Amino acid sequence: MQSVEKIKSELKALNAEYSKIKELPKEERKSFGQELNKKRADLEEQLKAAEDAAEDADVAPIDETAPAAPNTEIPRFKLGSKHPLMTELNRVLSIYSHMGFDIMESRQLDNEYNMFDALNFHKGHPARDGYDTFRTAENFIPPAHTSTMQNRALKRYKDNLKNGGQIAVVIPGRVFRNEDADATHEHTFYQCEGVFVSKDATMGQMLGVLKNLFETYYGQKLNTKTQPGYFPFTEPSLEFLIEKPKSLGGKGDGWLEMLGCGMIHPNVLKNAGIDPDEYKGFAWGGGIDRLVMLKYGLTDIRYFESGSLKFLEEF
Ligand code: DAH
Repeated sequence: MQSVEKIKSELKALNAEYSKIKELPKEERKSFGQELNKKRADLEEQLKAAEDAAEDADVAPIDETAPAAPNTEIPRFKLGSKHPLMTELNRVLSIYSHMGFDIMESRQLDNEYNMFDALNFHKGHPARDGYDTFRTAENFIPPAHTSTMQNRALKRYKDNLKNGGQIAVVIPGRVFRNEDADATHEHTFYQCEGVFVSKDATMGQMLGVLKNLFETYYGQKLNTKTQPGYFPFTEPSLEFLIEKPKSLGGKGDGWLEMLGCGMIHPNVLKNAGIDPDEYKGFAWGGGIDRLVMLKYGLTDIRYFESGSLKFLEEF
């Protein structure tokens, strides 16, 4: 095939021929002109074909003799993954669902009523200060514990009681405290709350639920104990501890406080329209971060919120 340049120059020369027409005798002009038109149409067709071919030639031809390499590493985008706290929280929730608990979601902004009043913190109660709450300009409170959900949970499920059933619900959520961060304190962390109400709920049932939770989560028998605690929303109030198992770095002498718990205070039941003379309940709440730190031997809670890829890639 002729090159684009060559055809273009031929076309130029041909166009110049047209000026000769007027110099010819009249009777020859027509056939001469027709001849030129035919040549021009022909050249234009060739030009189009040559231009198309030149365009195709820009694409490197496939080398059919190149060796096939089906195992070549293809560069990959780095995909994200579930945050370790969420993976572990799902494990915890799955243990609770196997025990028959419903799951309700917490929220990241709440109010004075759910944070304190509904939970039997009287106005001016010194325990209000113990929670180091943040506040928005509008006086909303990012919850300092998942107990803020107790009143909503009790109200939502109280028809279960009328129908002869129970309230059995767990509520995971993100919580916030206005305190200085260090290896064991973070301003943002996760908790999971549990609420159980029935005609004859007992402390023994509560301890059974908690022991089962921790033993299933850590996959081994554990020594557990309680010690007295204080929360305005439970009476009596307890702290639940497990002995740090050898497999998780324990030396047989360390007790770890895992959560707060107790029998739901009659006022908390009343605030949700449940008669405390007729029904009893227990509730508990504790940090998820702490649970996960023990499982993986982590020594600094701040890793979780750090956004460090190096940390996240460990999981
Ligand atoms: N909300 C408490 C805290 O964050 C923990 C707690 C204690 C939750 C006793 C409960 C409970 O439900 O009954 O310190």
